[in-house]
This record gives sequence, C-alpha cells and structure tokens, in this order.
Amino acid sequence: VNYARYLSRAAGTMQESPIRKMGTVTARIPDLISFAPGYPAPDTFPWDDFREITGELLGAREGTTLQYGPTRGFRPLLDAIRAVLRGRGIDAALEDLLITTGSQQGLDLVARVLLDPGDVALVELPAYTGAIAAFRNVQAELRGVRQEPDGIDVDDLDRVITRVRAEGKRARFLYLVSNFQNPTGLLLAGDKRRRLLEAADRHDILLVEDDPYGDLYFPDAAEASDTRPIKADDHEGRVLYLSSFSKTLAPGYRIAWIAAPPELTAKFEVAKQAADICTGALDQRVVWQAIERGVLAAQGPRLRAVYQHKRTVMERALRQHLSDLLTWPDPRGGFFIWVTAPPEIHTDTLLERAIRHQVIFVVGSAFFVDRTGANTLRLSFSAPTPERIEEGVRRLSEALREELDHLHQEVGPVGAGGGTRGTGTPRG
Ligand SMILES: Cc1ncc(COP(=O)(O)O)c(C=O)c1O
Repeated sequence: VNYARYLSRAAGTMQESPIRKMGTVTARIPDLISFAPGYPAPDTFPWDDFREITGELLGAREGTTLQYGPTRGFRPLLDAIRAVLRGRGIDAALEDLLITTGSQQGLDLVARVLLDPGDVALVELPAYTGAIAAFRNVQAELRGVRQEPDGIDVDDLDRVITRVRAEGKRARFLYLVSNFQNPTGLLLAGDKRRRLLEAADRHDILLVEDDPYGDLYFPDAAEASDTRPIKADDHEGRVLYLSSFSKTLAPGYRIAWIAAPPELTAKFEVAKQAADICTGALDQRVVWQAIERGVLAAQGPRLRAVYQHKRTVMERALRQHLSDLLTWPDPRGGFFIWVTAPPEIHTDTLLERAIRHQVIFVVGSAFFVDRTGANTLRLSFSAPTPERIEEGVRRLSEALREELDHLHQEVGPVGAGGGTRGTGTPRG
C-alpha cells in the first residue's frame, strides 16, 4: 500500500522536530554529551515530595483521582494557578484559564483556533521550534521578526506587519518568549514590553506570550521584576499567556496552562475536547498538592542557583576553549547559550563532526523561519552535570577546530579569498 497517497495535505508537509530527532542520536552513541534538548536536570525533581503526595492521593482511593475530569482542569489546581499568576502580576479570572497537557498543547490549540491555512503568524528570528511546528501543521505562513540583544526589534515588527498587509494578508498574532527565550536565552527589555502592547493595539494583532522560563532568572544577572510578563500590563485583552510547570516541577506531569480572554479560552477548551478530553487527573492533583505544600515555592531559589552555576560553568569553558572562534550573548536566565560560529561554518556539517567527538547540540537554522542562521547553534546547559558540561565544551572545541582545518584545506588559507575567522569580539 502506498500510504503517501492517503496523507492529508497537512500531514504531507509535517516535519519531525529537529530536537526530538537528536534523541535517536543520543541512544546510538555511547558516552555522548548532549547539549541538545532543553531538559531540566533530573536531580532537581522533588522526588520525595512527589512520592509522598502520590502515595497519599492513591491511598485515599478517591474516585475522581483516576477518573476523567473537566476539560478546563481540576478546580483546585486552577485556583492555585490563579495565585501563581498573581505572583507574576497577572490577575486572571477563572474563566480565563485552561489547563493544557504541556504548553506544547497550548501552542497546538492556539494554532487550531486562530489560524486558517495561508494565515500569517509572526515569530521571532530565531523562534522555538515547537511553536514553529504547531503553526506550520495548520499550514500557516510564518514570518520572522528580528531580535536585538534586548529582545524583539519592535521597529522590525512594524515593518514586517506593513509588508504583510501590503501583500493583502493579515498577521494574526506575534508569538514570543519574553523571558530567557528559547533558543537565544534573551530577556525582553521592560520598555519593549510596553511598546509591544502598543504595537499590538495599533496593528490590531494578538500577542501569544509563552513563558516557561520566567522563574529561572539568574540572581547575579537579573531579578524577578525583570521577568514581569507582558500579560501583567495588558488592559485591552491582547495577550494570550502560556506557562508550564515543566521546567519548575517536572515535565513528566505535562501540566501547563493558558490564560486568555474568556471568549478565546472557551474555544481552546472545545479544541482540547477533541485532542485529549482532559489533562491527566492524577498529574493535576500531584501538581496542585506540590503548590499547596510549598514544594513549588521552594524549587524557585534552588533551581535559580543550580542553573546559574551550570551557566557559569559552560561560559567559563567556552571562554577557555572557544573565545577566539565563537560569540554568544550572556544568558540572564533559562537553559540556553546561543552561539554564533565563524561565517564559513555550517553547523549542520559541524554537527556530524561533533557526533564523532561524542557531543551534540541543536543546529541554529532549525529555529529560523527565513532559512538563515547557518552558522549558529544552541547549547543547552540544563541537564548535564558541571563536569560533563566542561568535557562537552572541550569536545566541541576539538570538533570545531577540526572542521575549520578541513574547510581551510579545501578553500585555501584564510586571507586568500577563503573564509574569515570569527568576526567581532566574543562576549561573555
Ligand atoms: C518556549 C517553550 N515553549 C513551550 C515548551 C513546551 O513545554 P511543555 O513541557 O510545557 O509542553 C518549551 C519546552 O522546551 C519551550 O521551551
């Protein structure tokens, strides 16, 4: 049977996640150091609290714990999330909220509810691949907006929207990660948050603000007030806010939420009914209890210290081994260091060589909807131990130097019409 003939148009164009694809590499190569997926460090999971909570929940034999539940979510968890949101300056009503099975489901619901085939969705250059996939799966057209060291370039946003309009199309929304962006780690400046709200109003678009990393700021470089969501100052109902417990408690529970204007949340709820009926009842209760018992609150300072330390270790190793070749912005929170290599480097070929040196990363081009970024890559420091981070950067340095030697043998010496070595001053 030729199954290709049976595929929908949408399925025909679906692409495997470049990050997930790396999972097969990880499984194949012994002693591989992976800087690829943005996984939290498993030793930060509050294992004992989860064991105790789960034991009590199952011990009580309360039927609803293992039953189907309301699509909107488990009411006590929704109330707990309202309190979490108040801590971030967001005053959400119950009817604004929907629990989702990971924020990834939230992005899928946003795509289904807001985008028709051919509609334009605006994303950052570079943007989170999971969002790109969700929007592409409904056959939307994606346009990129440049980023500066302090986040999205609002003037470029104006230009892109004007161009889209001149083509007779309408941009529906701008998707962005305001805090410690995936993949760049960038933090959006406070004044840009205000300007984005004005721009959304002026151009009559929505903002889809995805904020899984806001709590993970590094105390030596940022503070909680720097991460105040755009949603907190949204008085016109322009912002759809997504967040998740994946990075602060554990991604295995798949508990996240959307806070949006109630008319839209009602639509997301109907779309979710067809996707999975409801998010896991036991998982919602475990997370609810983790919030009630102060486990989530205790995670914050602990995670900030752990990831700040790993960031320091990776940056130190990069400076030691690679500062002559690579540049990167200092991350002030989150899981990632975004790296630019010399222009002659294609990180997809570098990756093949890196695999031979038993280290992997995500190629930067995967995050660009305009097919640029060939010499960029994303390093995630969240999951490996500090020792493995140091060793992985050393291996990366070997792979990169070998690749440059190989290229320069092919094209002749630098300065004789060949490539140019690292331009600009490395930061960090
Ligand atoms: C920006 C961003 N949005 C959404 C997600 C998905 O998170 P979740 O585990 O809540 O589905 C991730 C995960 O890496 C992410 O980085």
